[in-house]
Amino acid sequence: MSRLVVLISGGGSNLQALIDAAQSGHLPADIAAVISNKKSAYGLERAAAVGIPSIFLSAKGFPDRESYDVALARMVREHRPDLIVLAGFMRILSPAFLDQFPGRVINLHPALPGRFAGTRAIERAFAAFQAGEITASGCMVHYAIPEVDAGPVIEYREVGFEPHDTLDTFAARLHGAEHELIVSATRKALRGMGERE
Ligand code: GAR
Repeated sequence: MSRLVVLISGGGSNLQALIDAAQSGHLPADIAAVISNKKSAYGLERAAAVGIPSIFLSAKGFPDRESYDVALARMVREHRPDLIVLAGFMRILSPAFLDQFPGRVINLHPALPGRFAGTRAIERAFAAFQAGEITASGCMVHYAIPEVDAGPVIEYREVGFEPHDTLDTFAARLHGAEHELIVSATRKALRGMGERE
């Protein structure tokens, strides 16, 4: 069985999708640990509730990004992951982290490839829809590289805007697509590297 380490910063609804898929046999993986850079991340409670080690690693006390990333990589490595999933991890990872796990870090982003990199992507896409600039947005999972929310795409889903959409109705539909996508793309990435029995 493949081992995942999932990094989060918030609610963890995508982590929950991975937990559910692993438990139901739809994802041939064990979630070895969940690590958050935010103490209040509800996803830590979701992990703890099903007996997954859940760890908070604050960036406070580290002098710079690289030293945090080295400590984070050491912590991740302790759990011997085959794949590291960034599921709403809202921190930039430098090469000090990424170079230690080449081809083994994947990131979920709530926009289509090449669009709306960074934070508040759903809000910015919705504003572009309201301005008449786009008719659809979506979500993607890609291999992480030092450039934020960029890198080789594993899978994406397009999510169209509907005439009476509000930010909330659109965001709900987009999150639904993400929950399906994160499982599918994680499965595909594991298959690509040859699952461990
Ligand atoms: C998701 O919408 C994810 O795409 C986004 O954070 C949210 C986490 O939700 N990630 C980014 O914006 C990365 N740039 P969750 O904590 O409920 O899974």
